[in-house]
Amino acid sequence: MARDIKIAPSLLAADMGDLRQAVARVEQAGADYLHLDVMDGAFVPNISFGADVIRALRKGSRLFFDVHLMVEEPGRYLDDFAAAGADLLTVHYEACRHLHRVIQQIKGLGLKAGVALNPATPVSVLEDILPDLDLVLIMSVNPGFGGQSYITESTAKIARLAAMLDTAERDIDIEVDGGVSAKNAALPASAGANVLVAGTGVFGQTDFAQAINNIRTKAAAAR
Ligand code: DX5
Ligand code: ZN
Repeated sequence: MARDIKIAPSLLAADMGDLRQAVARVEQAGADYLHLDVMDGAFVPNISFGADVIRALRKGSRLFFDVHLMVEEPGRYLDDFAAAGADLLTVHYEACRHLHRVIQQIKGLGLKAGVALNPATPVSVLEDILPDLDLVLIMSVNPGFGGQSYITESTAKIARLAAMLDTAERDIDIEVDGGVSAKNAALPASAGANVLVAGTGVFGQTDFAQAINNIRTKAAAAR
């Protein structure tokens, strides 16, 4: 039984001058998750926002907060993001010297735990940590910026991850992040992704509900 499709608009592409309104609009438009991209200017070349902004937005929203930490050694900040109201914390494999410890820390805080992989990192590195994960995020662009093009090889990589999860008898979310819109949502969904992040694909459109619906319909039809 396939897991439900979830659409996760990425706030990075929203109007930064009016984030509260942006969150309210995607919540009304039927988003399942709110994807929050935290960038530290070290792990990735860009800086976005941190726990204080997330805490402020939490007050006005009931959405599931999917926090994507593009941060070196994120173990240093997990308490802050938990207190700010995150539901899921996803850390990068490439940013953690002791990934197992970081995952245990997230679970100890009572949150769902995810691991993200950059385009050049193979899914095989996750083999020994799979039993502890709630979600794997496949980056379909190099992290750091919104509005980039979907890397075609990501589809086959998602399929490899899905096969690996099948073998391990692990039924967890597969999230895809970067360059996803209604135009290409069928690709990652056909390979097994069920959580689709879309920044420009939602916030760059005039009608958020229609954008979310189109992505959902295309993804569902592709499975
Ligand atoms: C990239 C971020 C993405 C980004 C996606 O580093 O992790 O979540 O906001 O934006 P789009 O959908 O525009 O590629
Ligand atoms: Zn992201």
